[in-house]
Amino acid sequence: MSTSINRRQLLRSGFLAVSACSVIPAYSWGRNLKHFDLDSKGRLIHSPFLREYTLPLNRHLKDPVLRLHSNENPYGPSPNAVEAVRENAPMGNWYAWDAEDEMKEILAEKEGVSPDHIMITPGSTQILQDAAIFFFRNGGNLVSADPTFMTIIRVARTAGAEWKAIPLTDSWSHDLKAMESATDSNTRLIYVCNPNNPTGSLTPVEDLLTFCDKMSSRVPVFVDEAYYEFLEPGSQPSMVRLIRQGKDVIVARTFSKIHGMAGLRMGYAIGQPKTLDTIRNYIIQGMGVSITSMMAARASLMDKDFQNLARTKNKEARDYTLTSLRSMGYSPVESHTSFILFPIQMEGQTFLSKMNALGVGVRSLAINEQTYCRVSIGKMEEMEQFITAIDKVLS
Ligand SMILES: Cc1ncc(COP(=O)(O)O)c(C=O)c1O
Repeated sequence: MSTSINRRQLLRSGFLAVSACSVIPAYSWGRNLKHFDLDSKGRLIHSPFLREYTLPLNRHLKDPVLRLHSNENPYGPSPNAVEAVRENAPMGNWYAWDAEDEMKEILAEKEGVSPDHIMITPGSTQILQDAAIFFFRNGGNLVSADPTFMTIIRVARTAGAEWKAIPLTDSWSHDLKAMESATDSNTRLIYVCNPNNPTGSLTPVEDLLTFCDKMSSRVPVFVDEAYYEFLEPGSQPSMVRLIRQGKDVIVARTFSKIHGMAGLRMGYAIGQPKTLDTIRNYIIQGMGVSITSMMAARASLMDKDFQNLARTKNKEARDYTLTSLRSMGYSPVESHTSFILFPIQMEGQTFLSKMNALGVGVRSLAINEQTYCRVSIGKMEEMEQFITAIDKVLS
């Protein structure tokens, strides 16, 4: 057997890839470096060791291909949410202040806080951006994992922040010890995404509770729980419990994932009233979410059957995909979300083109030069098509 075959087998099994993070030291990325630039191989530069392969077609799909690239919920929105949009569209001539106040009350009750702990935003992207602008308007540094979800990091760096990037551990968890050590007197915010995107991995929640509890007495901690509702209800505590105890933690939630409302744009943040108020002083609060989206969110929250269906079907299709990939010799990262990341042995742009030619839209990343596929979980029949395409393209 030749050396190259040995290496290919290792890569397919993920052995080299899984140890990829561990060889990367923590690093600091200054504010003068650009982002959204392409490297010499035409890849988007997210961090010194995280790159994304792109195809124009892959980012804005218009063709009838499988949309397995943006972690959308294939079952949503809830029929009740659709009905609420229809019913409330005629109210579109009024500013939706009353609806927003009511929505805050509903969300406050759900989270066990008072309404002044809630900020309503169009998706969680908005609160990620607002927090970045607010906390880094005078510079300072942001501590986070790498790879992680990039929105807050990009905007923080645009606002003038230095980014202290702490590689995930070998088991794809946040390295909480290293994040604590990296936090210094210039740190303005710590960002944690749990479960994490793009890895789908979960940092043990009890460890995270201890970390957030401790660190929030020094610096605010922002926890992005976009995929939280894909965990079994009651199985994992949210960081919201620390907010109830008065800690300076901000939790971001979205209706784009379990509620299947990515195009309707609705999200919210839970935090200390004082922190949310100071952020509000820098932005135009309210007005961001339409009456139709708020009413749809309200209807969707009450539709527990829809949420259970989305969670259960996601788990079935995810288990099928993980098992199929493993039986084909791949080593996917254990996923707690609506997507799966796994190492592949093909150049990313070629991989995307071949998958697109078969009508399957996915993402491709390079982590420390190891190529990965990130696939969103669609319906079962879509995942069967995905597995067939992977078999054709990669074997
Ligand atoms: C971890 C994470 N946070 C936030 C978002 C933003 O989602 P939205 O703005 O649609 O709420 C996403 C979207 O994929 C995400 O993966």
